[in-house]
Formats: sequence, C-alpha cells, structure tokens
Amino acid sequence: EAAQKGGFSTFMDKEIHDQPTAVADTLRGRIDEHGKLKLDEGLIADSVLNSIDKIVVIACGTAAYAGLVARYAIEHWTRIPVEVELAHEFRYRDPVVNVRTLVVALSQSGETMDTIMALRHAQQQGAPVIAIVNAQGSTIARESDAVLYTRAGPEIAVASTKAFLAQITAAYLLGIYLAELRGNKFPDEIRTLLAQLDEMPGKIQRVLDSAEPVRELARSLVDEGSVLFLGRHVGYPVALEGALKLKEIAYIHAEGFAAGELKHGPIALIDEGQPVFIILPSPRGRESLHSKVISNVQEVRARGARTFVIAEEGDTEAAEHAEQVFYVPASPVLMSPLLTVVPLQIFAHELASAKGLDVDQPRNLAKSVTVE
Ligand code: G6P
Repeated sequence: EAAQKGGFSTFMDKEIHDQPTAVADTLRGRIDEHGKLKLDEGLIADSVLNSIDKIVVIACGTAAYAGLVARYAIEHWTRIPVEVELAHEFRYRDPVVNVRTLVVALSQSGETMDTIMALRHAQQQGAPVIAIVNAQGSTIARESDAVLYTRAGPEIAVASTKAFLAQITAAYLLGIYLAELRGNKFPDEIRTLLAQLDEMPGKIQRVLDSAEPVRELARSLVDEGSVLFLGRHVGYPVALEGALKLKEIAYIHAEGFAAGELKHGPIALIDEGQPVFIILPSPRGRESLHSKVISNVQEVRARGARTFVIAEEGDTEAAEHAEQVFYVPASPVLMSPLLTVVPLQIFAHELASAKGLDVDQPRNLAKSVTVE
C-alpha cells in the first residue's frame, strides 16, 4: 500500500498531487485528424446534438459541484441553457426532459445508484444521455448513449479530488465540442479555449508547489468548530466543494455560500474569530465582480471574521483586506476553478491529518454509494 501511495502519507494527498496529470490526460488525444474534437464512444448523432435546446447535468456530491462549475462555461460558450440537478432529486420532481434535452450523467465511479436511476428516468423520456465517468465500463458508461471518459486514473480516497478536476475538464471539452458543432464559436476561438485548457496542468502544478502556507494555516486551525467559504460566479461552486471536503474528512461544520447571498442571511453567523475563506475573482475579469467580493471580505472582517483569501497572483488589493492571501496563477476566469479549489483540498487534507483522522476512509462515507 505504501508503494501505491507513491511516497505520500495518504491516497488523498497522492491524488491531489496527481491533478496536473489527471487534467493533462483528460485533455490528451481529443482532437481527430480533421482538427475536430471527438468523444470516446460517440453514439449521439450530430443531428441530435444540433437539435437539443437544454442540457441537464445529473450527479451527486463532488461531481454535482463539477457540474455547477461547468454550467458557467457551457452556457457561455454554447448559449444552451444548462441545469444541474442532484440525481436523487431529479426523477421525483417530474422534470421536463425530452428528446431535445441532452442529459449528462457525471460520475467518478459510474456506479452511483442515484445517478443511474436518474439516467434511466431520462432515457425513458427519450433524452439522449452522455456519460462523463472515470471508471471504464462502469454501469453509467454502459447505459449511456455516448461516453467521454475522464482519465484521472483510479481514485482511492473517499473524498474526491483529482476526479473533480478531471470532471470539470471533460465537461468543458463537451461544451467546446457543442460550441464547435453548433457553430457558436469560430475555429480560432475553439483553438484558444483548448490552448487555455492545455496551460492548466502546469498552473495546477505551481499551486501544488506553493502550498506550504495553506498547510501551516490548517495546522493552526485544528480546534476550529466551523469554517465558512464564500465565492461568486465560478468561485461559488468552488466554495461549496471546499466546504464539502472539510465536512467529509475533518468533520468540521462547514458551509459554502454565494458571496452575494451573505447579506441575505449568512452574515449573521459571523462573529469574532470565525474563519472565512473567500475565493476572489480575478481583477482582470469583470471589475465589478472583483470589487463586490472585496466588499464581502471587508464586511466579514469588520464583524471579526478571520479572512483567508484565494486570489490571483498580482492582485495587489487582496492583501490590503485579508488576514492572509493564498495566490494562484493568473488564468481566464472560467479556467480558474481548476486552480482555486486546490488550496482548499490541501487545507482539508492537512487539517484532517493534523487531527489524526483517517483521511482516506472517513467515518460513515463510502467511495461509491450503490444504494438509493
Ligand atoms: C459519494 C462519495 C463522493 C462522491 C459521490 C458521487 O458520496 O463519497 O466523494 O462525490 O459519491 O460519486 P460518483 O462516483 O458518482 O462521482
């Protein structure tokens, strides 16, 4: 087992460090000889993909958060409305799904029963289903009409890390594929997006190489009872995922909030010493978004919160307002979740390790939930 962990203390730590490779492998070989993107098992006709008027992503847990991230990109690139639905809620609300709905079943294991049941429900309504799964030949892969594999390699730790990054990457490829097919983007725009994705593994590696400060912070917070996470736009699902990691492996009460929602309730939670992570959007993106989240940092800090900010390198304003800033390399906004989530994974891992917990096998959880 020690050999399988490749010198890391836990599978999760190894898998966090596998992430540059997981993303690079997921991107590799997706362009055919005509310069067109290809699916691994492409059985949905182009005519069908051209006629869809909605995309519904069904998933659970971390995979659902990957879906939430992907929604921003796919809608932006394709102008097709995207819904992301927890698979176990999906079929019980009589969802509007038909032959013009592309259903995306997103799952690491491909064996999550909730997702399988949602997939079957969608198929009964006549919807074409594409699977984005990590496990080759899994039930979801077999039952779907087409498959785009994430190539993260086996994920052993219960808490998902590298599969999350690979799921975002694969869902982005699907979005780019649809944008290309449906003529939403010019070929040079498609090339630019693919080039931006290609740069991400190297940037993720840089985040890994500079993670010691976040580990130090984690060790200093072992006695915390609650940690909050705020994000806006693509930073919102990253906040949700950061909170989930902490709940799963460190057994600390954690919540992720949309930063804009703070004033509508969650700000009442802030009192002296409350740790809050804030994912700050790039100042090079929409300026208003950056300044709004800076205001959120100020608001919680003014009420006594300890503010830990994930910001882009070169964002000089971040340090003026935060107790501590963790920098990630600059990237296009839609690519940034592949970077900003990494310090949060490392934070949860280090905190759980410092508490002496079994990081890879947290209590009450299973890697793959094969019951409804
Ligand atoms: C379980 C795992 C989570 C995972 C979720 C979905 O709850 O503990 O880590 O995100 O299932 O799993 P899937 O294999 O469908 O991605």
